[in-house]
Amino acid sequence: MKIESNVSLQPYNTFGIAAKALQLVRVTQTEALQAMLRDPVWHGQPKFVWGGGSNIVITGDVKPLVIKMENKGRRLWREDDRHWWVEAEAGENWHDFVTWTLAQGWPGLENLALIPGHVGATPVQNIGAYGLELQDVFDSLDAVDLDSGALFSLDAAQCAFAYRDSVFKHGPDPSQHGSSHMGLAGRAAILRVRFRLAKNWRPLLGYADLQRKVASTGQTQPTAMEVFDWVCEIRRAKLPDPAVLGNAGSFFKNPSVTPEQCADIIGRDPGVVHYPMLDGSIKLAAGWLIDACGWKGKSVGQAGVYEKQALVLVNRGGRESPCTGGEVMTLAKAIQTSVYERFGILLEPEPVVV
Ligand code: EPU
Repeated sequence: MKIESNVSLQPYNTFGIAAKALQLVRVTQTEALQAMLRDPVWHGQPKFVWGGGSNIVITGDVKPLVIKMENKGRRLWREDDRHWWVEAEAGENWHDFVTWTLAQGWPGLENLALIPGHVGATPVQNIGAYGLELQDVFDSLDAVDLDSGALFSLDAAQCAFAYRDSVFKHGPDPSQHGSSHMGLAGRAAILRVRFRLAKNWRPLLGYADLQRKVASTGQTQPTAMEVFDWVCEIRRAKLPDPAVLGNAGSFFKNPSVTPEQCADIIGRDPGVVHYPMLDGSIKLAAGWLIDACGWKGKSVGQAGVYEKQALVLVNRGGRESPCTGGEVMTLAKAIQTSVYERFGILLEPEPVVV
């Protein structure tokens, strides 16, 4: 495999941060990747797997070998009376894949339309939007162990999905035994993902923004294509297009609090946006908390808080004079401090910092 040196990562991260990979390899074939991982030159060397770069903040040149997943392909993997199983290679663009499944007549991914990034990264953070999470449609994935080059597969239980979380975000947990409980952060490259789409499809319209579309159009039984169009419209109105204004989507997770904590906050701030969860906890809208602290439109250097949605941090310098990862993280820390001082809640960043 060809190892490239000093490769600009600016085109490969949606923030548009300027930094280099000291060494980078592009993966199109599983066997070539396995051979490289087993090569004594690379065995034991630090490595970093790169997908669509849509959930990442780069704070300097990347020293570990960047393994950029560029493998392509998608197919109907299996079908029975009740389901279609659809498989896509890690390097496929997520939104193109969603569009393609709908064009084939396989609904089920429409609520996840327009999420930036590649298929291989979708299980890592268990992407979710408009009432659907990846785990709801996930079947299984194939991956390669970065240490041994061995192939393995995981089902949904082994991925340990939670809100914007999975086994791929955690290091090994010494208190747990058995590979299904081992964190896989930095230890695996996802090669392909399989989704299970139900034939008795029903639109998922519970989310408030979609309810508003139902009310404004009078369409109570939309097709999957109509839901897809609605989700695209809602996202375009609220979230900046990374091709125009660099960003990494929601910068913080929505925090969970106890009903007592929530009641305390409501006592002081009656307008706080909150949602009761099935487990009895309450989820708060991080965007509302940040907005309430007056952050919309504020900046540190070229890193700013998006005017229309305080949960999104943006690169105001474009490609020419982009923000640095340091500016993004300084802004993020200042936001965390002010939200903590006012509400007693520590916001947890969503993107990976490298
Ligand atoms: N809000 C404000 N001010 C703001 C931002 C939000 O008051 O500046 C309020 C909104 O009015 C709304 C509430 O906060 O009442 C929630 O906002 P929104 O519906 O836009 O959703 P969100 O919680 O900000 C989450 C996901 C998004 C996903 C949307 C739709 C997280 C961290 N973010 O955003 O995911 O698209 O719901 O399902 O869970 C992403 O992960 O990158 C992402 C964009």
